[in-house]
Amino acid sequence: MCLSGEYKTDNSYYSLHCPPLFIVSCCHSVDFYGYMPNHWFVGGEPIPDIIEVQDLEKKFGDIIAVDTISFTVKKGEVFGFLGPNGAGKTSTMKIIACVSPRTSGTITVFGMDPETHPAEIKLRLGVVPQETNLDPDFTCFCNLFTYSRYFDIPPDIAHQRAEELLADELLDFVQLQEKRDVTVEKLSGGMKRRLILARALVNNPDLLILDEPTIGLDPQARHLIWERLKLLQAQGNTIILTTHYLDEAARLCDRLVIMDNGKILVEGTPVDLVKQYVGNEVVEIEKTDEVISCLSKNSIPFEAIGDSVQVATDSSREIAKILFDQCSPHKVLTRPATLEDVFLKLTGRKLKE
Ligand SMILES: Nc1ncnc2c1ncn2[C@@H]1O[C@H](COP(=O)(O)OP(=O)(O)OP(=O)(O)O)[C@@H](O)[C@H]1O
Ligand SMILES: [Mg+2]
Repeated sequence: MCLSGEYKTDNSYYSLHCPPLFIVSCCHSVDFYGYMPNHWFVGGEPIPDIIEVQDLEKKFGDIIAVDTISFTVKKGEVFGFLGPNGAGKTSTMKIIACVSPRTSGTITVFGMDPETHPAEIKLRLGVVPQETNLDPDFTCFCNLFTYSRYFDIPPDIAHQRAEELLADELLDFVQLQEKRDVTVEKLSGGMKRRLILARALVNNPDLLILDEPTIGLDPQARHLIWERLKLLQAQGNTIILTTHYLDEAARLCDRLVIMDNGKILVEGTPVDLVKQYVGNEVVEIEKTDEVISCLSKNSIPFEAIGDSVQVATDSSREIAKILFDQCSPHKVLTRPATLEDVFLKLTGRKLKE
């Protein structure tokens, strides 16, 4: 049973048994690869905002899951949400996906309010939820085919054939064609994630909401998904995604926010955030009293984390020279600065403790 408003369970709104709460006439093209954006960079015209969020808040009783956040997502962007467990990423995704009502604040998706126009918005969304919620008894093909039926009525023969073709195209897209007639319960975890991505594309959405799309995938499968997401973006889709993987965020996202405790700490492009908050490089030194007092004596700012000391810098050679000349370091490592360093700088904690 599907209920509007708050969810009964996390999965119920995304479940195959619980399709979008509306019925539409034929709304997708089977010519998936032929899909082209209606608007992209149109001769200097401003790119429209697909999502506009102002002072959004979500409370579960006393818990503030989303704490007055504001952001916008532009058409055609890949926009990321990076943050540790419990940061409020999924809660935010669910509000955008029209499956969880906000406590306060304003939000529009395609210019409409998710609470007053959920059907119109859902028609244009593809969602990969954090939890895997495929129908375990159906084959891969049947999962896609059955889901596509929710978007197509009346089910005449021409439409049925189109949906079969679409299901097969999508299985190709996520490289699961060889598992076409295998039931979901016999798939590996990574294969299930790929099938969920295929399912999210069934209605040829304008906006993809991906909550940890590559969790549990092996490196090769992650690369496949990254490649596919880049392709979808090139075809005009707007994508919002949450991830714990820093390399994924840095590689895929045009812009991202780093969240913690329901708040947005910073927003920007991955490169700019790293440059602005950390610099180009980080020098890591094994923590000893001698190293700490030596860095302090030379007025070099540092962070002590666990058994190491980190110096963010644009001139790692100079820092290394001072260390070797004056500080008797045990181990010194120089590496490029990352979004993890940004998070550390802002919170004093690692993304994954
Ligand atoms: N249905 C719910 N009922 C009560 N509290 C909830 C519910 N959903 C989320 N929360 C709480 O809201 C906070 C934010 O959770 P959320 O799932 O949005 O985090 P997240 O950033 O997605 O974390 P993760 O990286 O672990 O997926 C957490 O404290 C969580 O316990
Ligand atoms: Mg989550």
